[in-house]
Amino acid sequence: APWAVVFGGPSPEHEISILTGLQAERVLVAAGHAVVPIYWSPTGEWFRVPDATEAKDYLEGAPRESVPLEVRLSGEPGLYRRKRLGAEKLPIEAALLCLHGGAGEGGGGAALFSTLGIPATGSTIFAGAVGMDKLAFGGLMHAAGIPSLPREAVSTLTEPSFAGPYIVKPRFGGSSIGIEIADDLDAARALAGASVHLRTGAVLEPYRPQLVDLNISFRTHPQLEISDLEKPLRGAGDSALYSYAEKYLAGGAGSEAGLSSAPREFPAQVPDAVHAAARSLAERVADVTRLTGIVRVDLLLDEATGELYVNEVNSIPGALSLYLWATKRPAAEVLVDAIVEARDKRIVF
Ligand code: DAL
Ligand code: MG
Repeated sequence: APWAVVFGGPSPEHEISILTGLQAERVLVAAGHAVVPIYWSPTGEWFRVPDATEAKDYLEGAPRESVPLEVRLSGEPGLYRRKRLGAEKLPIEAALLCLHGGAGEGGGGAALFSTLGIPATGSTIFAGAVGMDKLAFGGLMHAAGIPSLPREAVSTLTEPSFAGPYIVKPRFGGSSIGIEIADDLDAARALAGASVHLRTGAVLEPYRPQLVDLNISFRTHPQLEISDLEKPLRGAGDSALYSYAEKYLAGGAGSEAGLSSAPREFPAQVPDAVHAAARSLAERVADVTRLTGIVRVDLLLDEATGELYVNEVNSIPGALSLYLWATKRPAAEVLVDAIVEARDKRIVF
């Protein structure tokens, strides 16, 4: 039976998820695999979409000639194609989840597909939920003694233990959406009350403009393996933060394997000691989070001191961060291994 590639979903990262899904579909099809592309709309409808659609086909919702699907959680659970007489269950061996943010990445994708009886890539509900919760994840890093910046909730009941200026982030967000800088606690609280992205929960961290972003990936099948390290390059006219626009809209030419458009240094031109420290941190994050599949760990480096911090984790990274594997493995192999991991382990609860 074919594999489903599942993308979209009710989440602020809906559009990025479409890009990831379509890239994953392209990589698998080019490697000769049978794939069923499945789109989850922002309002929660499911569609079997035509093969080889493009991002622009989604500007007004599901592409033309998409087939609505029914999700059945009882009787014989599964995804069904509506027919003139009755419905027909889609034969799917396993699903590659390309759902960023929201329920999809935060454990809901794992919950839904396990309920449907369809093995799905990625982590357990629990590991996925912690990965999506910046406060819980920060607490976990702290408890495990893994270097990370202080991170506390923006609360009206308590005061943070460190002084501003702060970076204020959505507690459950991703892709740099909704991130703000606040000079002091009053400003942080005001932002947390006013922004749609921060109202469901906000965390603050010390704002340290000298830190640079570094990204690394781990995967867990056939065994734990760590990718090379990349340094995303900041565009001209730098804003204070590495932003959504720079991550996804930069349109630079520096794309390895055509899998991402943002400019980057890959492998990162940093001292060998930083490469080694980054690999070791990725290993420790894998160990303590129990995240599985293809995961990206975002690090922060103080280039003056060489200090490296774990910033956050992406349990379903954009384009599954396949470009980070370009020096080690063909993209299709990385995806197939993740699908095989799901199929064979039948990760459920
Ligand atoms: N959350 C996005 C997709 C990423 O970090 O890759
Ligand atoms: Mg992220």
